[in-house]
Amino acid sequence: MRSLTARKSPNKSEGQPFPPSLRSVREERERARAALGMAFRPRRIVLGVTGSIAAYKAPEIIRGFVKAGFETRCILTSRAKDFVAPLTLATLSHYPPIENENDSQLWEMAHLSLAEWAPVLLIAPATADFIAKLAAGLGDNALSLLSLAFKGQVIVCPAMDGGMWEHPATKRNVETLRHFGYEIWGPELGELASGKIGIGRMVEPQAIIERVKSFWPSEKERIRKSRR
Ligand SMILES: Cc1cc2nc3c(=O)[nH]c(=O)nc-3n(C[C@H](O)[C@H](O)[C@H](O)COP(=O)(O)O)c2cc1C
Repeated sequence: MRSLTARKSPNKSEGQPFPPSLRSVREERERARAALGMAFRPRRIVLGVTGSIAAYKAPEIIRGFVKAGFETRCILTSRAKDFVAPLTLATLSHYPPIENENDSQLWEMAHLSLAEWAPVLLIAPATADFIAKLAAGLGDNALSLLSLAFKGQVIVCPAMDGGMWEHPATKRNVETLRHFGYEIWGPELGELASGKIGIGRMVEPQAIIERVKSFWPSEKERIRKSRR
């Protein structure tokens, strides 16, 4: 199976995507579960981190997933390393992050093994630059390569200056990602790194974690299902 949610085929309604934030939480949870049967999917996640100032929040995201019982692997762009230390990510995820495309963790038997390891690839934060790469289908670094090969659901959490988010190129690129079936979460209105208020702030780590967790049934639901 390629994704949590079936990849959309282009049709008329695709011209008017509605932001995930407008869907009710319950509707979204039901849709994700129905599409995948997540009950039997391993609690694993790959976190991709790109070179945004919001990368300082990546450790909090990893901590949240590890606490929630997820096996977590990280993969960074080279610019991300200017904003968050690989050693911090290694310590919190209990695994060394992948930092370049030659890393043997990425390749196993000449095959992008990580592409099949987890049902979710979460890119948080995602820069305007990286979103453009995804939209163009480039594979010039470890994270863009993995995104191309990834078999499960790709979730993108943009973080950038308001002007970058409003630029027609970014809007077009984000629209392209929606056509690929990627989930786009945020960005939100709030204080940006510049100190200005605008749209471009990454969705808060806790909200991301809760939303990803909702793809899997809760422990209570699992027990209820197993008793049927
Ligand atoms: C201090 C600083 C903060 C930045 N923050 C962002 C950001 O929040 N979002 C963004 O899209 N780019 C941001 N950039 C620009 C990216 O780092 C730049 O586009 C880089 O090439 C992204 O590389 P990557 O997408 O491969 O990680 C920032 C640059 C600097 C110097």
